[in-house]
Amino acid sequence: MNLVSKEKYQKGILRTLISEEELKSAIQKAGAEIDAEYEGKPLLLVSILKGAFIFLADLSRAVSIPCEIGFMQAQSYFEGTESAGTVEITLDLTQDISKYHVIIVEDIIDTGRTLSLVAQKLRERNPLSLKILTLLDKPERRVVDLKADVSLFTIPDEFVIGYGLDFAEYYRNLPYIGIFNPEKE
Ligand code: IMP
Ligand code: MG
Repeated sequence: MNLVSKEKYQKGILRTLISEEELKSAIQKAGAEIDAEYEGKPLLLVSILKGAFIFLADLSRAVSIPCEIGFMQAQSYFEGTESAGTVEITLDLTQDISKYHVIIVEDIIDTGRTLSLVAQKLRERNPLSLKILTLLDKPERRVVDLKADVSLFTIPDEFVIGYGLDFAEYYRNLPYIGIFNPEKE
Protein backbone atom coordinates (compact mmCIF):
# COMPACT_ATOMS: atom_id res chain seq x y z
CA MET A 1 0.00 0.00 0.00
CA ASN A 2 1.30 3.43 -0.90
CA LEU A 3 1.64 5.75 2.02
CA VAL A 4 -1.04 8.45 1.97
CA SER A 5 -0.67 11.83 3.64
CA LYS A 6 -2.36 12.55 6.95
CA GLU A 7 -4.55 15.14 5.17
CA LYS A 8 -5.73 12.61 2.59
CA TYR A 9 -6.33 10.04 5.35
CA GLN A 10 -8.56 12.54 7.18
CA LYS A 11 -10.48 13.35 3.99
CA GLY A 12 -11.44 9.68 3.70
CA ILE A 13 -13.64 10.09 6.77
CA LEU A 14 -16.97 11.64 5.78
CA ARG A 15 -18.43 11.80 9.30
CA THR A 16 -18.75 9.93 12.57
CA LEU A 17 -21.51 7.33 12.60
CA ILE A 18 -20.94 5.88 16.10
CA SER A 19 -18.85 7.76 18.66
CA GLU A 20 -16.35 6.30 21.12
CA GLU A 21 -18.80 6.98 23.97
CA GLU A 22 -21.65 5.18 22.22
CA LEU A 23 -19.38 2.21 21.48
CA LYS A 24 -18.18 2.10 25.04
CA SER A 25 -21.60 2.09 26.65
CA ALA A 26 -23.03 -0.53 24.25
CA ILE A 27 -20.01 -2.77 24.87
CA GLN A 28 -20.25 -2.42 28.66
CA LYS A 29 -23.90 -3.51 28.45
CA ALA A 30 -23.05 -6.47 26.17
CA GLY A 31 -20.27 -7.54 28.58
CA ALA A 32 -22.67 -7.46 31.54
CA GLU A 33 -25.16 -9.59 29.59
CA ILE A 34 -22.44 -12.16 28.86
CA ASP A 35 -21.50 -12.21 32.56
CA ALA A 36 -25.10 -12.92 33.53
CA GLU A 37 -25.71 -15.59 30.87
CA TYR A 38 -22.46 -17.56 31.01
CA GLU A 39 -21.35 -17.49 34.63
CA GLY A 40 -20.22 -20.97 35.70
CA LYS A 41 -19.91 -22.15 32.08
CA PRO A 42 -16.75 -22.72 30.01
CA LEU A 43 -16.81 -19.74 27.64
CA LEU A 44 -14.82 -19.18 24.46
CA LEU A 45 -14.97 -15.86 22.60
CA VAL A 46 -14.04 -16.45 18.96
CA SER A 47 -13.14 -13.67 16.63
CA ILE A 48 -12.66 -13.76 12.88
CA LEU A 49 -9.66 -11.69 11.90
CA LYS A 50 -9.01 -9.02 11.18
CA GLY A 51 -12.01 -6.69 11.47
CA ALA A 52 -13.14 -7.72 14.96
CA PHE A 53 -9.80 -7.40 16.73
CA ILE A 54 -10.53 -4.11 18.49
CA PHE A 55 -14.12 -5.03 19.31
CA LEU A 56 -12.96 -8.32 20.84
CA ALA A 57 -10.28 -6.53 22.85
CA ASP A 58 -12.83 -4.13 24.35
CA LEU A 59 -15.68 -6.63 24.73
CA SER A 60 -13.46 -9.17 26.48
CA ARG A 61 -12.44 -6.48 28.99
CA ALA A 62 -16.13 -5.72 29.63
CA VAL A 63 -16.63 -9.39 30.57
CA SER A 64 -15.64 -10.20 34.14
CA ILE A 65 -16.27 -13.97 34.26
CA PRO A 66 -13.54 -16.45 33.26
CA CYS A 67 -13.28 -16.85 29.49
CA GLU A 68 -10.88 -17.92 26.76
CA ILE A 69 -10.13 -16.14 23.51
CA GLY A 70 -9.66 -17.70 20.08
CA PHE A 71 -8.94 -16.41 16.60
CA MET A 72 -9.82 -17.68 13.16
CA GLN A 73 -9.21 -16.43 9.69
CA ALA A 74 -11.25 -17.57 6.72
CA GLN A 75 -11.12 -17.21 2.96
CA SER A 76 -14.43 -17.63 1.16
CA TYR A 77 -15.11 -18.30 -2.49
CA PHE A 78 -18.36 -17.59 -4.30
CA GLU A 79 -18.95 -18.33 -7.94
CA GLY A 80 -21.83 -15.90 -8.37
CA THR A 81 -23.96 -13.67 -6.21
CA GLU A 82 -26.44 -16.53 -5.68
CA SER A 83 -23.91 -19.28 -4.93
CA ALA A 84 -23.74 -20.83 -1.47
CA GLY A 85 -19.95 -20.68 -1.67
CA THR A 86 -17.21 -22.53 0.11
CA VAL A 87 -14.94 -21.43 2.89
CA GLU A 88 -11.38 -22.33 3.73
CA ILE A 89 -10.24 -21.84 7.31
CA THR A 90 -6.76 -20.32 6.91
CA LEU A 91 -6.14 -19.89 10.64
CA ASP A 92 -7.90 -22.21 13.04
CA LEU A 93 -8.69 -22.32 16.76
CA THR A 94 -6.41 -24.26 19.08
CA GLN A 95 -9.28 -25.17 21.43
CA ASP A 96 -11.52 -28.26 21.08
CA ILE A 97 -14.82 -26.39 20.97
CA SER A 98 -16.93 -29.39 22.04
CA LYS A 99 -15.92 -28.38 25.57
CA TYR A 100 -17.08 -24.75 25.32
CA HIS A 101 -19.99 -22.43 24.99
CA VAL A 102 -18.86 -20.39 22.00
CA ILE A 103 -19.67 -16.80 21.09
CA ILE A 104 -18.55 -15.67 17.64
CA VAL A 105 -17.59 -12.01 18.02
CA GLU A 106 -17.97 -10.27 14.65
CA ASP A 107 -17.29 -6.72 13.49
CA ILE A 108 -20.08 -6.46 10.92
CA ILE A 109 -22.62 -8.65 9.18
CA ASP A 110 -23.08 -7.44 5.64
CA THR A 111 -24.17 -10.10 3.10
CA GLY A 112 -23.67 -12.67 5.86
CA ARG A 113 -22.11 -15.19 3.49
CA THR A 114 -18.71 -15.75 5.09
CA LEU A 115 -20.03 -15.85 8.61
CA SER A 116 -22.79 -18.32 7.77
CA LEU A 117 -20.19 -20.72 6.33
CA VAL A 118 -17.84 -20.30 9.31
CA ALA A 119 -20.72 -20.77 11.77
CA GLN A 120 -21.72 -23.96 9.95
CA LYS A 121 -18.15 -25.31 10.23
CA LEU A 122 -18.13 -24.54 13.95
CA ARG A 123 -21.54 -26.16 14.52
CA GLU A 124 -20.17 -29.38 12.97
CA ARG A 125 -17.64 -29.48 15.83
CA ASN A 126 -20.50 -29.70 18.36
CA PRO A 127 -19.85 -26.81 20.73
CA LEU A 128 -21.94 -26.85 23.93
CA SER A 129 -23.70 -23.84 22.41
CA LEU A 130 -22.98 -21.33 19.67
CA LYS A 131 -24.09 -17.72 19.45
CA ILE A 132 -23.26 -14.89 17.08
CA LEU A 133 -22.66 -11.44 18.54
CA THR A 134 -21.99 -8.62 16.11
CA LEU A 135 -21.03 -5.02 16.69
CA LEU A 136 -22.70 -3.79 13.49
CA ASP A 137 -25.47 -5.19 11.34
CA LYS A 138 -26.40 -4.04 7.83
CA PRO A 139 -29.63 -6.03 7.34
CA GLU A 140 -30.44 -4.38 3.98
CA ARG A 141 -27.43 -6.09 2.42
CA ARG A 142 -28.13 -9.65 3.56
CA VAL A 143 -28.14 -12.36 0.85
CA VAL A 144 -28.25 -15.43 3.12
CA ASP A 145 -30.58 -16.25 5.97
CA LEU A 146 -28.34 -15.33 8.88
CA LYS A 147 -29.39 -13.53 12.02
CA ALA A 148 -27.10 -12.47 14.84
CA ASP A 149 -28.19 -13.51 18.32
CA VAL A 150 -26.98 -10.12 19.54
CA SER A 151 -26.38 -7.01 17.44
CA LEU A 152 -25.16 -3.82 19.10
CA PHE A 153 -25.92 -1.36 16.28
CA THR A 154 -28.09 -1.67 13.16
CA ILE A 155 -26.64 0.61 10.50
CA PRO A 156 -27.77 1.82 7.06
CA ASP A 157 -26.21 0.58 3.82
CA GLU A 158 -23.08 2.76 4.02
CA PHE A 159 -19.43 1.69 3.87
CA VAL A 160 -18.07 2.18 7.36
CA ILE A 161 -14.51 2.37 8.65
CA GLY A 162 -12.73 2.46 11.96
CA TYR A 163 -12.71 0.52 15.21
CA GLY A 164 -11.12 -2.44 13.38
CA LEU A 165 -12.96 -2.03 10.08
CA ASP A 166 -10.91 -1.11 7.05
CA PHE A 167 -10.97 0.35 3.61
CA ALA A 168 -8.02 -1.25 1.74
CA GLU A 169 -6.46 -2.06 5.14
CA TYR A 170 -6.51 1.57 6.28
CA TYR A 171 -8.60 3.19 9.04
CA ARG A 172 -8.69 0.17 11.38
CA ASN A 173 -6.99 2.40 13.97
CA LEU A 174 -9.77 5.04 14.13
CA PRO A 175 -11.21 4.91 17.66
CA TYR A 176 -14.81 5.37 16.41
CA ILE A 177 -16.97 4.16 13.50
CA GLY A 178 -17.00 6.59 10.60
CA ILE A 179 -18.58 6.68 7.16
CA PHE A 180 -16.02 6.33 4.40
CA ASN A 181 -15.72 9.11 1.84
CA PRO A 182 -14.62 7.73 -1.55
CA GLU A 183 -14.26 11.29 -2.99
CA LYS A 184 -11.08 12.23 -1.18
CA GLU A 185 -9.43 14.37 -3.84
P1 IMP B 1 -20.17 -10.41 4.64
O1 IMP B 1 -19.62 -11.81 4.40
O2 IMP B 1 -20.63 -9.77 3.37
O3 IMP B 1 -21.25 -10.37 5.70
O4 IMP B 1 -19.01 -9.46 5.17
C1 IMP B 1 -17.72 -9.94 5.35
C2 IMP B 1 -16.74 -8.87 5.73
O5 IMP B 1 -16.80 -7.77 4.84
C3 IMP B 1 -16.90 -8.25 7.11
O6 IMP B 1 -16.46 -9.09 8.16
C4 IMP B 1 -16.04 -7.02 6.93
O7 IMP B 1 -14.68 -7.34 7.12
C5 IMP B 1 -16.30 -6.64 5.48
N1 IMP B 1 -17.26 -5.52 5.39
C6 IMP B 1 -18.57 -5.56 5.11
N2 IMP B 1 -19.12 -4.33 5.13
C7 IMP B 1 -18.11 -3.49 5.48
C8 IMP B 1 -18.04 -2.06 5.70
O8 IMP B 1 -19.02 -1.29 5.61
N3 IMP B 1 -16.82 -1.58 6.03
C9 IMP B 1 -15.70 -2.36 6.16
N4 IMP B 1 -15.72 -3.69 5.98
C10 IMP B 1 -16.92 -4.24 5.63
MG1 MG C 1 -12.45 -6.31 5.83
